[in-house]
Amino acid sequence: MAKSVDRAVGIDIGGTGMKAGIVDLAKGELLSDRVRIPTPDGAKPKDVLATVKELLEKLGPDAADLPVGICFPTIVKNGRTLSAANVSKKWLDFEADAFFEEGLGKPIHFVNDADAAGLAELRFGGAKDQQGLTILTTLGTGIGGAFLFNGQLVPNVEIGHLQWNGESIEKYAATSAREREGLSWEEWAGRLQEFYDHLEFLFSPDLILIGGGVSKNPEKFLPRIKTRADIRVATHANNAGIIGAASLAL
Ligand code: BGC
Repeated sequence: MAKSVDRAVGIDIGGTGMKAGIVDLAKGELLSDRVRIPTPDGAKPKDVLATVKELLEKLGPDAADLPVGICFPTIVKNGRTLSAANVSKKWLDFEADAFFEEGLGKPIHFVNDADAAGLAELRFGGAKDQQGLTILTTLGTGIGGAFLFNGQLVPNVEIGHLQWNGESIEKYAATSAREREGLSWEEWAGRLQEFYDHLEFLFSPDLILIGGGVSKNPEKFLPRIKTRADIRVATHANNAGIIGAASLAL
């Protein structure tokens, strides 16, 4: 196994599930099994902290002394969470970094989930050495976005909250909309096509990457989507958040 300074724990807190793994920071790969626990109802800070502790226990003694990076589905600026679309409103303007450092008794790093996934792709995946603008979109409970421009992340780009028919576009096109409304893959791909057309019109990306839980079965929707830019599944698919969060832990 890599030396302890070359390893960190990444924790990806989503609206539906919380996932963690031990990451090799040189290779950007999971060294452990991925462990998962459903996100506690309401996703209040104290319940999320308790579940983070359970995840660390599930990872076992190997994880005990490792630095921890946590990614979360809100705007995160200087360790504070500044939005709360799919989590408790208690996260609005909340000192998340300090809260978790105190709760876990060690330094941690808190970052937006799509930004973590974007960093993983930039450092170890599909956006490495990519020139121009890459937009990573994560499709899950919400829609997350990371803008990667010539090797740099532009943080906290909230593309899931572009307005569409009077509401955030994630309400219309996220994976959760497909599940909630019982859409067929074809119907959902039609909505994604509208979303990606809009993104292309606004930002003219060179490459579009897709992450989030749905990246496990791209054959169900990806062949139906046509974009000017190349579009493909993120190299680290649904593990990108864990890997990116871990890579910020040190
Ligand atoms: C949040 C984003 C997050 C995305 C994906 C959105 O509702 O506002 O911060 O990246 O969901 O989880």
